[in-house]
Amino acid sequence: MNPKIYLAPMSGVTDLAFRLISRESGAAHCFFEMLDAKATLYGHPGNKRLLKTLPKDLPIAAQLVGADPSVMLEAAEKLLAFVNISLLDINSACPAKKVIKKGAGAALLKDTPRLGKMVKSLADKLRIPVTVKLRTGFNRRDVAACARTAAICEANGAGSLFVHGRTMSQGYSGDVDYESVRAAKEAVKIPVFGSGNIFDPQMAKKMLDETGCDGITVARGALGNPWIFKNIENYLKSGAPSETPGLSAKKSMLKKHLSYIEKYKDISSDDKLGFMGKVAMWYLKGLYNASRIRAEICRVRSYRELIRLIDRQK
Ligand SMILES: Cc1cc2nc3c(=O)[nH]c(=O)nc-3n(C[C@H](O)[C@H](O)[C@H](O)COP(=O)(O)O)c2cc1C
Repeated sequence: MNPKIYLAPMSGVTDLAFRLISRESGAAHCFFEMLDAKATLYGHPGNKRLLKTLPKDLPIAAQLVGADPSVMLEAAEKLLAFVNISLLDINSACPAKKVIKKGAGAALLKDTPRLGKMVKSLADKLRIPVTVKLRTGFNRRDVAACARTAAICEANGAGSLFVHGRTMSQGYSGDVDYESVRAAKEAVKIPVFGSGNIFDPQMAKKMLDETGCDGITVARGALGNPWIFKNIENYLKSGAPSETPGLSAKKSMLKKHLSYIEKYKDISSDDKLGFMGKVAMWYLKGLYNASRIRAEICRVRSYRELIRLIDRQK
């Protein structure tokens, strides 16, 4: 069986430009950036920007964050009326304080009856699969509790699970808990995807081998490194070593990525240039003179100037 390799949802990162670059480089499936259920329901203008897509940006999933099952359902129904999504994911993993305070994101891990109710209300009504993004726990590691949460999601109608192998309090650092991800996988019959520290094909294989998961989602490993999708696929198929892009391949991929941002991102030109600088550093950070380039990028005043700066790098 070929494991599925998806691009993970990342707020502030996986915009249309990022998804197009990832798809052209082998990502089988992508997510929109996370959407707040209330903002979706009440038509916050920022949401329209997050939902920008193209016919070739398929298959695509949407992820909602919220605490109230009925608001989540109404938001999901509204979303389905105007975007063609493959699945609707419930975020039960976000560690941001403002999200936790509202009882949403990873806070749902502490209130599994509410999480179960939310899954059920969406799964009963929506015509597409409802999935759940989980972490392995809230504050502390508890392998059995992680398995129970996965089983609750399945029993209430979840179609797949995406499990980030860290607790909420670990944030994005620290060891990945493969045992808990495996326990979640073994507790259910629906497909389970593992995520956490998939920075190269070897780490992808480790996740699959140690957890028995059906697929993986690649997150930070894809920043400035869209080659990771094909590299993982080739490594899993034949053990082939990764293709390491040289500077000129990096520069052309980066310029293509920036051209998509220029074309598709609807934000002010100052914000766009700042965002492009961040993206440029993902691609260029390994260079010996990266800190000088960073300083130069900060001084750039236009898209054209940024492209000229990239062209000058040797
Ligand atoms: C900048 C950033 C934003 C993220 N935003 C989301 C999000 O909106 N929804 C979500 O489910 N996970 C989000 N994640 C978590 C990733 O999807 C992934 O599960 C996590 O980063 C672990 O994978 P990694 O260690 O390979 O990066 C985000 C991660 C990062 C780094």
